[in-house]
Amino acid sequence: MKVPVDRRDAVEAAADAIVTGLFERGEKDETFPKNLAREETASRGLISAAWKRKEIRGKRRELTVFHRPDTRGRILVVGLGPRARFDAEVVRRAAAEAVRALKGKGARTVAFRLPAFAAEGLPAEAAARAIVDGAVLGAYEFVKYRSTSDGGVEEAAIHLGEELAREEALVKKATADELALAETVVWTRDIANLPPDTATPERLAEIARGLAKEFGLKVTVFDEKKLAEMGCGGMLAVGSGSSHPPRMIVLEYPGGSRRGRTVAVVGKGITFDSGGISLKPGPRMGEMKFDKCGAVATLGILRAAATLEIAPRVVGVLCCAENLPSGSAYRPGDVVRTFNGKTIEILNTDAEGRVVLSDGLAYVAQTYKPDEIIDLATLTGAEVVALGDDTAGLVTTDERLAQGLLAASALTGEPLWRMPLTDFHREMVKSEVADVRNSTEIPVAGMLTAAAFLESFVGGVPWAHLDIAGPAYTNVLTRRWQPPYQGVGATGFAVRLVTRYLEGASTTRP
Ligand code: BES
Ligand code: ZN
Ligand code: ZN
Repeated sequence: MKVPVDRRDAVEAAADAIVTGLFERGEKDETFPKNLAREETASRGLISAAWKRKEIRGKRRELTVFHRPDTRGRILVVGLGPRARFDAEVVRRAAAEAVRALKGKGARTVAFRLPAFAAEGLPAEAAARAIVDGAVLGAYEFVKYRSTSDGGVEEAAIHLGEELAREEALVKKATADELALAETVVWTRDIANLPPDTATPERLAEIARGLAKEFGLKVTVFDEKKLAEMGCGGMLAVGSGSSHPPRMIVLEYPGGSRRGRTVAVVGKGITFDSGGISLKPGPRMGEMKFDKCGAVATLGILRAAATLEIAPRVVGVLCCAENLPSGSAYRPGDVVRTFNGKTIEILNTDAEGRVVLSDGLAYVAQTYKPDEIIDLATLTGAEVVALGDDTAGLVTTDERLAQGLLAASALTGEPLWRMPLTDFHREMVKSEVADVRNSTEIPVAGMLTAAAFLESFVGGVPWAHLDIAGPAYTNVLTRRWQPPYQGVGATGFAVRLVTRYLEGASTTRP
């Protein structure tokens, strides 16, 4: 999508639709909102008539379409809710509602009135960023396999008008920066939505190679032979039931400053999780194509790092395998030896994410000696039960990582909630026959015993675990409670969050 910044007032533009915002007013409030004056003139009295009828009150999710009598397009008035609860997330959602409402309605260009959104302490740049996120992510649809398309908004201009003319330089910079990131989220969603017959571990390796070529990143792909030489028994065990062999993919962005920190991002890339011999129940099993979302988000973060030329060096590790049952599949009772020599007792082949990550985490910790490791994984159903479909679980014992990631989460609107990690959880993953076991007989604190398991492979490096099982994708059941910029399918969760964290969200951004 194109997002130009325009100095003119939105009503002056020749766009197919103008989008403006309205704060919520009480039922008894009679005075017509001043900030709709220009739109009121353009509508030749239609908006004030609707106001008098109490048709528009500015409630959240209220969206009213007016057709300009001069036939120069439409005016969309979107409700912003109460002033006291206004923030960037309200703008993201309003912008998304607007572009979604216009889908299939012949509107190609939209003009957002920035002064209507840069209010109540939200600076113009922050409002512009929120419009970019809402418009670009809200317009997204996975269309690769569809033969017909509705046609949607292709250009969302941000109009400064007289009020914000002086902010032009700042708004332009913020818009370009946010657009680059939002486009990377779109790129990420397109890969994460690919079906499992197509997005095999080998295919993800090809995509990583293409990305590396385009952005001059270093890429290494470890195939099953190399993984065996390296002693990555976890990757091999999980992939052993599939005819598509596992791949560990390592991407390296060198960083903008020479003596900067190195952050490793490790992603779970199960291209399809049937559960293996511990087979999952049938209903909704197709959703398990999204079990690669951690790895695909890692690709997105590397792409964003290179596009935005961020300061730290970033090493991305994608642990890719397909978890299927077959005569060659790994089984409950098996003991596997991982990259760092630790052994895992397999009790449940459906707890495969932690098994592939064990090799990835140990490999990156030992090889790169990073300052920090962040892992991203659709790891447990327990995360979804605990936090729902919108919020990721954060587990870390490092305060700096916790504070930095929570600050980035507040900035990008990707909800994160910190969970504890104690010796209770660590004791629970000890095994009688091996060093650790991949499942416990009593299913308590499933998200946290999984985290305790991962912790034993990071070699003491400061580490944060993001269990994104809930927010990585939306399904038809929960879609209606999700923000309007998350359509059905992969969300690209964590790409904006981790990229902003890497940029130093907690210290340098508004
Ligand atoms: N991929 C699943 C977790 C998951 C569930 C992701 C729902 C997204 C939505 C994972 O591999 C899994 O099956 N975990 C098991 C672990 C258990 C067997 C210890 C789970 O959470 O039930
Ligand atoms: Zn599983
Ligand atoms: Zn899984």
